Amino acid sequence: MGNHDLKPLEALAAIRLSRREALLWPALTLLAGLSPASHAGVRRHAPAFAPVPVSTADEITIARGYRQQVLYAWGDPVSDGPPFRADAGNSADEQSQQAGMHHDGMHYFALPRGSANSRHGLLAINHEYLAQHLLYPDGMATWSAEKYAKAAAAVGVSVIEVRQAATGWEVVRPSRYARRITLATPAELQGPARGAAAMRTAADPDGVRVTGTFANCACGFTPWGTYLSCEENFHSWFVMPEGQPDHGQTAYRIARRNNHRWHEFDERFNLDRHPHEFNRFGWVVEIDPYDPASTPVKRTALGRFNRESAFTRLARDGRLVVYSGDDERFECVYKFVTRDRYDARYRERNRNLLDHGTLFVARFDDDGTGQWLPLIHGHPGLTADNGFADQAGVVIDARLAARAVAATPMDRPEWIAIHPHSGEVYVSLTDNNRRGESGLPDANAANPRIHNVGGHIVRWREAGADAAATRFRWDVFLLGGPNERTAGQTGDDFACPDTLVFSPDGTLWIGTDGAPQVGLGNDALLAADPRSGAVRRFLTGPRGCEITGLTFTPDGRTAFVNIQHPGAGFEHDPHWKPWPSGVPGERPRSATVVITRNSGGVIGS
Ligand code: FEO
Ligand code: CA
Ligand code: CA
Ligand code: CA
Repeated sequence: MGNHDLKPLEALAAIRLSRREALLWPALTLLAGLSPASHAGVRRHAPAFAPVPVSTADEITIARGYRQQVLYAWGDPVSDGPPFRADAGNSADEQSQQAGMHHDGMHYFALPRGSANSRHGLLAINHEYLAQHLLYPDGMATWSAEKYAKAAAAVGVSVIEVRQAATGWEVVRPSRYARRITLATPAELQGPARGAAAMRTAADPDGVRVTGTFANCACGFTPWGTYLSCEENFHSWFVMPEGQPDHGQTAYRIARRNNHRWHEFDERFNLDRHPHEFNRFGWVVEIDPYDPASTPVKRTALGRFNRESAFTRLARDGRLVVYSGDDERFECVYKFVTRDRYDARYRERNRNLLDHGTLFVARFDDDGTGQWLPLIHGHPGLTADNGFADQAGVVIDARLAARAVAATPMDRPEWIAIHPHSGEVYVSLTDNNRRGESGLPDANAANPRIHNVGGHIVRWREAGADAAATRFRWDVFLLGGPNERTAGQTGDDFACPDTLVFSPDGTLWIGTDGAPQVGLGNDALLAADPRSGAVRRFLTGPRGCEITGLTFTPDGRTAFVNIQHPGAGFEHDPHWKPWPSGVPGERPRSATVVITRNSGGVIGS
């Protein structure tokens, strides 16, 4: 990948589109050197497996020569705790010892710590949100404190110990590492928002600790072996029944009503009573998976938004850089650069590395270059006169700060993956069908389609191949959707890219969340070659699911992938078979699936 150059035609293809031009996008793709799908087909370097076709089955299909095994489904005990009850009859206390719902971001940590052991490790797994109608025997027909407590226990994070045995991978039970982190787990606040007035509540008058984490979507990990869990759609679980939302609550899209009913038994979700509680979610939560007694820490220096992911790379001088997307229409791409350098010799010295540094937001310019704009209190647009009292105000309302410096509004940035060799950075922009509507931003060079129902993937290369650089060059790598492709793009169609992860050999894996909306069957996991643009569909999920959360062992021979919300939207179809049991009448269960190759070889090679 080292001698790969950005293709000028591809960089040009996405630039300088006025609204009118963007409406003519399919024609422009031809003019600019892109080609529609029907013109593509040049065979280039591609991942070496036979792709699977589009599927609408209630099961996983996977490329020939590979096998899959359900490892850890909603309700499975993390350690030697209570087994899952098929009628969803487990109590709140039992749920707190079992896998939460709706698995999402996930990372494999080798055991022992610091090793590259590919046969024994820990999996940290996010449980993003709940289908509450599945969480209880009677669904939402009734509501109670016990039911709320079970909901609070079914979100958050799992840490499980896993091992490859002769018969396949297994969860180690009991395990001294196994734990659940839930909405009831105490977490610390660190960084500039710690102690800020806007973070203080009745339960936490000093603004230094939060009870729990939830809405944990995608993830990242640090060189010192901690997990970064990202709080995304926290806003949709709060209610504010009376009065007008303030500008921050509006920017973060507080809902007047929701159907989750958490506020009835936990009044911190009622913003009339506890307006600041809303500010205490939307952060990166750092978790030490190797220490089950450790307290999760919300690292506020990295900013607050609907944070999707937090993948990291070391800058040339040893500072750590964290890339994140804010998954909302017209929101932005961020990176955080630590003030201090990572020190591989002393784990303890890195403990608070993420508390000091500079938060940047991306501007993608029409000429294929881009700039990282610092979000530093006192800079133009970020002063008290602009509503930012201090750096705490900047990080708490990072969305408003991004607007103040004219960052580029994107098409819902989800995961951000970093090529393991070149450091080139790839962001999935999952979809956005609202550009150009009255009062909303128009198309821009990096988000060139008005009705972007299929999403796209943008990539950039930092100046000097240094993750801490403030300038970069970008291009559109792939276009999602059935009818359009970039010039280099060949192979299988996909839509609504969400999960993006590189395997150790430099293959880019794309998990999708929205294929059905463009007629591409069930959501899928695809492999793309960053050099050639060749894409191959590797796996299709059961109906109704999205594919999200993917991690590899260091040797690349085992992949763990999450199937989230299988069956969603199909529960009343008389032909639907709930995954994974396939037994009509049983509950569908999100789950972590292990993928290995029959030959034992590297996945995708
Ligand atoms: Fe939780 Fe944006 O996906
Ligand atoms: Ca996602
Ligand atoms: Ca989703
Ligand atoms: Ca998504």
